[in-house]
Amino acid sequence: MVEQLIESESTARGRKSAGPVTSRPVRLREVETDSLDRLSLPVQEFSRVLGGGFVPGSLILVGGDPGIGKSTLLLEIAGLTANLHGPVLYVSGEESARQIKMRAERLRIEAEDLFLVTETSLHAILDHITAVRPVMTIVDSIQTTYDENLTSSAGSVSQVRESASRLQEVAKQSGVVIVLVGHVTKEGAIAGPRVLEHIVDTVLYLEGDPFHRYRLLRSVKNRFGATSEVGVFEMVEQGMVEVPNPSEAFLAERQANAPGSAIAVTLEGTRPLLVEVQALASGTTFANPRRTPNGIDINRLLLLTAVLTRRVHIPLHDKDVFVNVIGGLQISEPAADLAVALAIAGSVKDRPVHADMAFFGEVGLSGELRAVSQLEPRLKEAAKLGFKRCIVPRTRQLSATAIPKGLEVIGCRSLLEAVDLALIRS
Ligand SMILES: Nc1ncnc2c1ncn2[C@@H]1O[C@H](COP(=O)(O)OP(=O)(O)O)[C@@H](O)[C@H]1O
Ligand SMILES: [Mg+2]
Repeated sequence: MVEQLIESESTARGRKSAGPVTSRPVRLREVETDSLDRLSLPVQEFSRVLGGGFVPGSLILVGGDPGIGKSTLLLEIAGLTANLHGPVLYVSGEESARQIKMRAERLRIEAEDLFLVTETSLHAILDHITAVRPVMTIVDSIQTTYDENLTSSAGSVSQVRESASRLQEVAKQSGVVIVLVGHVTKEGAIAGPRVLEHIVDTVLYLEGDPFHRYRLLRSVKNRFGATSEVGVFEMVEQGMVEVPNPSEAFLAERQANAPGSAIAVTLEGTRPLLVEVQALASGTTFANPRRTPNGIDINRLLLLTAVLTRRVHIPLHDKDVFVNVIGGLQISEPAADLAVALAIAGSVKDRPVHADMAFFGEVGLSGELRAVSQLEPRLKEAAKLGFKRCIVPRTRQLSATAIPKGLEVIGCRSLLEAVDLALIRS
């Protein structure tokens, strides 16, 4: 049951009742474009995810689990924006100005034009925006913001939705960038960022395993840029530090020649990333052996164990299989299949894969390797990180010029073939 606000004549909200029509259709070529003067940001990882800086008048939602670092990241962005572009208003409904100041000191943020206010009332927030005339406003969080005209409590679907659409209007009218912080609630869809996705222009999610240092900022919707772009940050004492070369960071702790480890070349948005996939297969005591994935989808893992058993003759019915993607990354694309399968195969046979090899390719049900998109950027990234050989699905789409210097590209038709080539013979 979602409460709806019925507007009465007295709650005039700046909207005219049915009067003369003021809008007028114009020809496409007559429409003026102001080439979207974006507010640039020195934080490359953030900027790229947005599609290159903030677009004035846009409403951006930054979602994520509580404690993942949303307030930290946005306070840093607010400080930088204030120093570069003008006043920024940081509205917090969760922390006092004192607490925010303490965080700012820890993050070493000094910004003359950064204004703080603790406020939860939507109307007060709108008044503050009118008074401060900021270039950017951060509302932390949308779940604490409430409209007095609704009787439901703050954080309910109707409150969250109403506040967001009012802020959207203000952003469009005044050109201020408004960033909403949304906590992902335990109930998932209810009153969390999901109910806002259609209202806002851009949806970013800050993800990561709280026990790992790395945080990924991912765009899932963007009216002004590509989606599924990823920015990588590291959470340290001084705040969120961007990681300009994440592949290197993800591979830093890798132990070459350890059985059950393989390097996958995945693509996050438009960016290729190398990650280490680890697997451990050990004898089970259960009637139903366990399949425990961390960082990949359980259904992908079930499929790969079945293919390994039937097509590659590596029996897994009596083994528990654990898979872990290093760095807290969640890989959703099937191109990582090959590396996952090789890591499992290596663990069962207790044979490491060649240390100078990287892998990508989707595994089909017949054990065949299927082509994946964007070969060139993947190969380039592998070569850049010093890999000498790359096992990929055999396809015709690869021209000799696409292969980076010093990298040997080995095309395989099947997983069986790849296992044979990748694992070091004992
Ligand atoms: N003094 C500190 N030193 C290092 N990390 C801290 C410190 N205080 C808080 N943190 C980290 O900051 C995180 C909280 O980030 P925050 O931006 O408040 O999250 P969110 O706004 O997403 O709930 C916590 O995970 C905590 O570990
Ligand atoms: Mg917070």
